[in-house]
Amino acid sequence: MTLTITRTLPHDATAAALRDDVRCGLTRTVKSLPPKWFYDAHGSALFERITTDVAAYYPTRAERDLLAARAGDIAAATRARTLIELGSGAASEKTRLLLGALTDLHTYVPVDVSESALREAGEALTAERPGLDVHGLIADFTQHLALPAAPGPRLVALLGSTIGNLLPAERTAFFTSMRALLEPGDALLLGVDLVKDPSVLVAAYDDRETGITSAFNKNVLTVINRELGADFEPDAFEHVALWDAEREWIEMRLRSRTAQTVKIPALDLLVDFAAGEDLRTEISAKFRRPGLAVELARAGLDMAAWFTSPAQQVAMALGVPALSAPQGAYAPGTTACIR
Ligand code: SAH
Ligand code: AVI
Repeated sequence: MTLTITRTLPHDATAAALRDDVRCGLTRTVKSLPPKWFYDAHGSALFERITTDVAAYYPTRAERDLLAARAGDIAAATRARTLIELGSGAASEKTRLLLGALTDLHTYVPVDVSESALREAGEALTAERPGLDVHGLIADFTQHLALPAAPGPRLVALLGSTIGNLLPAERTAFFTSMRALLEPGDALLLGVDLVKDPSVLVAAYDDRETGITSAFNKNVLTVINRELGADFEPDAFEHVALWDAEREWIEMRLRSRTAQTVKIPALDLLVDFAAGEDLRTEISAKFRRPGLAVELARAGLDMAAWFTSPAQQVAMALGVPALSAPQGAYAPGTTACIR
């Protein structure tokens, strides 16, 4: 029916958040940046190329196969009239599988920090599904979400293991905020990547064949150059992917090839890198069913269903509001500058 795009994130809020994250992350002893800054128009396009052109990057294909097999079951379990997709990105085949299965669907609310991805996806889906109300939100799903009025039951989906890009404390805050958002009858659909042989995991992220993941990783430097006037030289950094066996997550890093000093004029900041020093740009946590069930339960969500992809590579959990009170005490606090 209609396409509406609402910006709940003012431009200056985005600019201020980037400044805070860069100052905080690059002045720490162990340097790091939050991965949400990869996704300007170029970064979003590079992520799409990872999903299509990087043969070792299996999560998107595996999740698509899972949805092809199980979207009907998800639709039957939720009977959603509104689908809210967080971190929706480009209009994917996965989104289309869900939309196609949800026969009672009235409203689709894609939510993304990437305006370019949101507009393209919104336009494509409105043209394809003339009966559907599409209300895109330019918003950060880790912050308070001002959702448009839309009929229930609502299904909130976070696909592609994007949940794995949040640090554990951010994940707890996210699940707790989802519990507060969900009403009886609503559900949270989480797509997660599973712990598996580290050689398979590392190959998906080191991408020795194409260089696309390296370009995606270095794009965060280009974003900081453009937005904050910095003089990062992307080729002065090496793309690194490694498996942290204890915390069961992949880390993407940028390793300084030489000793160098980077200027960030908008922050009035000089950042020194030693030769071989790493800047962590992303974690991508991998999950096991019991651990995820415990995390959801602590936030007051029951894992009502668990589906695995045909080759058991990825899974989907359906979380619903628990009838009993949340198990763990949640002490709201700031997650600012915890990276
Ligand atoms: N859901 C798609 C895209 C995954 S890429 C898939 O499964 O293939 C991750 C997407 O999440 C990107 O489009 C990025 O812009 C968005 N994203 C990352 N962090 C976000 C945040 N905090 N708030 C809103 N969108 C976010
Ligand atoms: C978006 N996110 C879930 C991807 C991941 O696998 O963590 C981003 C990505 N990083 C490297 N390749 C893809």
